[in-house]
Amino acid sequence: MVNNATLQVTHVTKNYGADATHVQAVRDVSLEVKPEEVVLIMGPSGSGKTTLLQMMGALLKPTDGSIQLNGEMLSALAENRLPTIRLHQIGFIFQNFNLLSALTVLDNVALVAELAGLKRREARKKAATMATDPVCGMKVEREKAVTTEWQGQPFSFCSRGCRNEFLEEPQQFLNTVFQ
Ligand SMILES: Nc1ncnc2c1ncn2[C@@H]1O[C@H](COP(=O)(O)OP(=O)(O)O)[C@@H](O)[C@H]1O
Ligand SMILES: [Mg+2]
Repeated sequence: MVNNATLQVTHVTKNYGADATHVQAVRDVSLEVKPEEVVLIMGPSGSGKTTLLQMMGALLKPTDGSIQLNGEMLSALAENRLPTIRLHQIGFIFQNFNLLSALTVLDNVALVAELAGLKRREARKKAATMATDPVCGMKVEREKAVTTEWQGQPFSFCSRGCRNEFLEEPQQFLNTVFQ
């Protein structure tokens, strides 16, 4: 999740709502994630996993406690300082993809690369390279993938059937796969 950094979570608590709607989603959690370390967080539905990850990903502020990334106190930073940290230091795979629905899949990917400082052309090139794994999500050896080009970009598929389906209604196909 975090490049080359230590993430420190210290006595973090998160409360939602108030009075009758009050929920303590996370209560007094402390943990440290070191570079290269992989940590899995397990627990039943409603136990606070998503809330904790959102706080660790600088998307949500704790009610109590602190979160530090490489010595910087994320939980105390002003909201306008967080976008840069999210862009350069945090990768987050959401349960829903949070794509911008007015943009193509490729533009969704390219946009982030552009925000990170690449020129538009370079960003689109990078996005296209990243998007060449089969669009339909099937695992298939690269040599066996069926490819096509659309809007000047290469797309690959697990089979001809899949590619033909794509060619009938490309945007709709992509929206369904990546929604
Ligand atoms: N935005 C929110 N507002 C109010 N309560 C919430 C909100 N998000 C989550 N909760 C509540 O906080 C608790 C923990 O939820 P969550 O972090 O989504 O757990 P998990 O991801 O482990 O299923 C649940 O009781 C849930 O209903
Ligand atoms: Mg969850």
